[in-house]
Amino acid sequence: MARRKRGIRFWMLLLLGLALALYIFYTELRPTVIFGLRDDYARAIPFQKVPTGLKSLKAEDCGACHREIYEEWKTSIHAFAYRDPFFQAYWKKDDNIWICLNCHAPLENQQPTLIQDIPRNRVERAVQVPNYRFDPEFQAEGVTCAVCHVRDGAIWGPFDDSVAPHPTKFDPSFRTTQICYRCHNVVSGPFQFYNVGPCGTYAEYEGKFFMQERGMICQSCHMPQVLRPVADGGPIRLGRRHLWRGGHDPEMIKRAIAVQVTADPLEPKPGGRVTFRLTLVNAGAGHKIPTGDPDRHFTIEFLVKDEHGKIVHHQAETMGRWILWQPVIVEVYDNRLLPLASREYDFTYTIPKDAERWIVEARIRYHILTDGQHEMLRERYGLTADDPYRFVIYQRAFPLDQTLAVALQRQPALQFGCAVSVEAGRTKGLSGTS
Ligand code: HEC
Ligand code: HEC
Ligand code: HEC
Ligand code: HEC
Ligand code: HEC
Repeated sequence: MARRKRGIRFWMLLLLGLALALYIFYTELRPTVIFGLRDDYARAIPFQKVPTGLKSLKAEDCGACHREIYEEWKTSIHAFAYRDPFFQAYWKKDDNIWICLNCHAPLENQQPTLIQDIPRNRVERAVQVPNYRFDPEFQAEGVTCAVCHVRDGAIWGPFDDSVAPHPTKFDPSFRTTQICYRCHNVVSGPFQFYNVGPCGTYAEYEGKFFMQERGMICQSCHMPQVLRPVADGGPIRLGRRHLWRGGHDPEMIKRAIAVQVTADPLEPKPGGRVTFRLTLVNAGAGHKIPTGDPDRHFTIEFLVKDEHGKIVHHQAETMGRWILWQPVIVEVYDNRLLPLASREYDFTYTIPKDAERWIVEARIRYHILTDGQHEMLRERYGLTADDPYRFVIYQRAFPLDQTLAVALQRQPALQFGCAVSVEAGRTKGLSGTS
């Protein structure tokens, strides 16, 4: 009898202990956000005042003189870093926690509260006070001009000889990756086991082909060089377009990949078997493809279509990351391609005897997020925008008959390296990514 009582007490204590351990784990150990804090982005960029000679820090006002740069920036995802519907939906899911703003609208001038202390590095416990200098309109500008260019009452930039109506300061880091590092290399927190952090674009670039062998920096591909006046009426200089095309631009993603398809046999017959092999190369990105946000992925598909275009068979494979989010974050698998790395995808099919004018379509799509997450954001977090979140970036049809050999020969040759050229004169249009 006494033994049995002790037994119950033992189990009760164990249960209590477990509950306490779980409580401590979730409230004290496991971070509430999917990344760790690093000193630079744990804080907002300090408050900046308007440099003498200027009306405001607003991008539009910079645009009065730097018209082309302003027009480019306006079409870039940096200008949407706060208004971006995908950001807004995910931010809502994370209870609009302040830390996100340190990269998506990072100037103190753009933030509604000031962070005075982050007890034990727990973002949800941060001590916040209202920021009386908060400007909501400026917040909407996201990663705006002043985020990169305004410090200590001056405009910092890449030149040491400019003559401007505002104070300027030469800062050599504009021509290095340093300027991108702060926001594009997000690190892991405690109890988070990622390969190179949740968003490790810089780490994926460091020491790899385009850096090591070509000496390229982020700007080489994301801010193409251009010869033009820096400000209206000024001298012509070698500068860079402020475009930053990436995952939201199918044309940019097309530049990252090279694709080649082979088949065996080269002249398949109805009733016979045929194997297709698709080789996918990361030919033009300085980092892994996909990079950045952990949701990004590619799908590589083979679709057999009959003479009416009806899909009769389908094979799909995925390239991306598999991350276990609960109870701790563990990156189980990462099959993304490093610069110049390639992978082969095979597809074997037995052609029905009566198949006539059937084809195999090889297709590659890029996904900003999965269909499931898109649905979840629409249903629960107010994502209303119809912004495309997946694009076809490669599509080619191959006949399942004797003409296959010819179709295979017609493929363009593999091309490596992101096209980087200096554009002379005025920019032609803003839709491209040149
Ligand atoms: C009244 C016109 C005017 C306005 C407004 C203006 N700028 Fe300038 N800015 C210039 C001129 C002129 C130059 C020098 C061009 C040259 O030397 O080729 C310049 C130079 C620069 C440079 C290069 C500095 C260097 O030395 O590397 C940057 C960066 C810059 N401006 C950013 C900004 C930003 C950001 C804003 C808004 C906060 C802004 N400018 C507002 C006229 C203006
Ligand atoms: C202050 C933080 C910050 C800095 C500095 C910064 N970025 Fe970004 N960048 C962002 C954020 C935030 C986004 C995502 C915006 C979104 O999708 O809502 C982004 C998006 C991008 C994208 C597009 C991704 C896509 O999904 O289309 C590219 C490319 C990019 N940045 C390149 C650069 C380069 C190159 C530099 C350095 C010259 C740089 N960024 C500096 C914060 C920053
Ligand atoms: C994410 C950071 C970032 C943002 C945001 C940004 N710039 Fe720049 N800017 C740069 C970098 C990097 C360079 C250096 C380009 C180079 O090597 O010539 C630069 C260069 C410049 C120059 C010098 C001319 C040139 O092409 O080098 C001017 C002027 C300028 N920026 C104005 C602006 C204006 C105006 C805005 C907002 C409409 C803006 N920038 C937004 C990063 C940024
Ligand atoms: C050799 C050219 C090249 C270099 C160098 C390069 N990139 Fe890229 N980047 C690309 C291409 C091409 C894509 C489109 C493929 C993709 O989105 O996966 C891309 C995509 C991106 C994206 C979008 C990812 C997404 O879908 O959200 C970001 C962010 C980015 N790059 C940032 C950087 C940063 C930061 C650096 C420097 C550390 C850098 N890139 C260096 C070519 C380059
Ligand atoms: C250290 C900087 C940093 C912080 C902090 C940060 N982000 Fe981002 N975020 C980025 C960058 C850079 C990108 C650019 C694209 C990429 O790398 O894929 C991005 C992209 C995104 C995207 C993808 C947008 C799109 O259009 O697909 C979402 C959603 C997002 N962030 C949400 C958040 C949320 C929510 C938080 C806070 C919990 C947060 N971010 C905190 C830097 C940051």
